[in-house]
Amino acid sequence: MFAVGIVAAAGSGLRLGADRPKALVPLAARPLVAWAVATLVDGGVDEVVVAVPAAEHDQFAAVLPDGVRLVEGGATRTASVRAALGAVPDGAGAVLVHDAARPLTPPAVVARVLDALAAGALAVVPVLPVVDTTVVVDGQGTVTAAPDRGTLRRVQTPQGFDRATLVAAYAALDDTAELTDDAAVVRAHGVPVTTVAGDERAAKVTVAHDLALAELQVSR
Ligand code: C5P
Repeated sequence: MFAVGIVAAAGSGLRLGADRPKALVPLAARPLVAWAVATLVDGGVDEVVVAVPAAEHDQFAAVLPDGVRLVEGGATRTASVRAALGAVPDGAGAVLVHDAARPLTPPAVVARVLDALAAGALAVVPVLPVVDTTVVVDGQGTVTAAPDRGTLRRVQTPQGFDRATLVAAYAALDDTAELTDDAAVVRAHGVPVTTVAGDERAAKVTVAHDLALAELQVSR
């Protein structure tokens, strides 16, 4: 099955406090986006499309391998993935959508997602258990519910999809909709989403502390 990877890399990274888009921030001297592309390729995808901020197109092109396709991202993650999806060839059987902000995702996670798709899943996400008690609060911060954590999972990327299913789900989604991941897009379209084991190393880099932890991991 021909698989195309999409890397969502068009975010600004305001919460990281960096002087450049988060995906260009270096981890062990290599930009986060380059780590994410390498993970997808090493895990088995055949081609990669990266959604980048329009203003920094050339800086992204300079740090990515030849053959990686760049498209202009949008104002939201949903818009960026929609734009990248438009550049995926019709012949692709699978699409894996990955965050540039998860640089240390092991290629084995990619391989597990691809295996689940090859086995017939239409949508698959890597997940981890929730180890903390997790609660729901109201607008005042008062706890209103405490779901059984045994049924909760933390969702990571790359998330894998049958290409035609993902294209149809995005086509049915309102242009202004803003969802936090792609599994939510296909679920809104009535598609069942299956899970495979994620990996703690696929943690998302959001704030400076996350980047410091990632640096420690690669320096070991
Ligand atoms: O902001 P957050 O870390 O949740 O973003 C997740 C991923 O989505 C990041 O890799 C970011 O670059 C990407 N993104 C995007 N386009 C946007 C906003 C975020 O590609 N407009």
